[in-house]
Amino acid sequence: MVDDLAARFEHTVASEARIEPRDWMPDGYRRTLIRQIAQHAHSEIIGMQPEGNWISRAPSLRRKAILLAKVQDEAGHGLYLYAATETLGADRGELTEKLIDGKQKYSSIFNYPTLTFADMGVIGWLVDGAAICNQVPLCRTSYGPYARAMIRICKEESFHQRQGYELLMTMMRGTQAQRDMVQDAVDRWWWPSLMMFGPPDEESSNTEQSMAWRIKRNTNDELRQKYVDMSMPQAAKLGVTFPDPELKWNPERGHHDFGQPDWEEFWQVVGGHGPCNSQRVAHRRKAHEDGAWVREAAAAHAAKARRSQEGVA
Ligand SMILES: [Fe+2]
Ligand SMILES: [Fe+2]
Repeated sequence: MVDDLAARFEHTVASEARIEPRDWMPDGYRRTLIRQIAQHAHSEIIGMQPEGNWISRAPSLRRKAILLAKVQDEAGHGLYLYAATETLGADRGELTEKLIDGKQKYSSIFNYPTLTFADMGVIGWLVDGAAICNQVPLCRTSYGPYARAMIRICKEESFHQRQGYELLMTMMRGTQAQRDMVQDAVDRWWWPSLMMFGPPDEESSNTEQSMAWRIKRNTNDELRQKYVDMSMPQAAKLGVTFPDPELKWNPERGHHDFGQPDWEEFWQVVGGHGPCNSQRVAHRRKAHEDGAWVREAAAAHAAKARRSQEGVA
């Protein structure tokens, strides 16, 4: 029986059809998806903090409205993704507990501080840009609810990237001090952006199985290369440089060569020792605790509605 089910699962994946919540799936597939989607959801929610930090200090009403809309989108992305984990039998409350207890991770990028308003532009351009590179292939991932959530998320991410690039273009047309601010932000965010694709392929323990299950569609190094190639003409148009002396076009490969990020720093940040890890998690924990009354009130309201429907109230 299980052999039949396993064969059907393999066939569905191999034929590029989608696995749906009620379909049989191997336990490892379910566990891998819950881990990956939860990590992705946590990243969206924690990712609101570095930018939320600047909403009250935006330089104009227009910039404030754009930033506010973007940060709200990220909350929405977190919600779609937590909902996708629930179709796999996960409990959203438990996932949040795991995040604030440090048992589940989120993207390393959100552990770096945002020092100037130029960081809002560079995050949109480079960080949301890297997210798009990572996420566009996930629109074809083998698990249906995740793939469908990613289609909507990717549409919103492209607005995030454009608003960032447009902000930087505006600053680059401004004063020398504004141009310097943009270059400084690019210098600080370039290497952490490259780290967003995860460790080099030979150190990425989950890649092979995830590729076989078609959860993941490209390796970390493939996506990193694509991102570098995509970012170079954008940097030239903007008039900024990346802080990598090894970065240059290689006509034989048809790609840019580039240096390696500091992987030691990456593992430190992933291990909880980045510049802002403890602040990010403490902030999330406080928001969760402060929101307890809302969850209790919503549960009480739902129970009351249920009772009145059953004619008991
Ligand atoms: Fe997002
Ligand atoms: Fe985004």
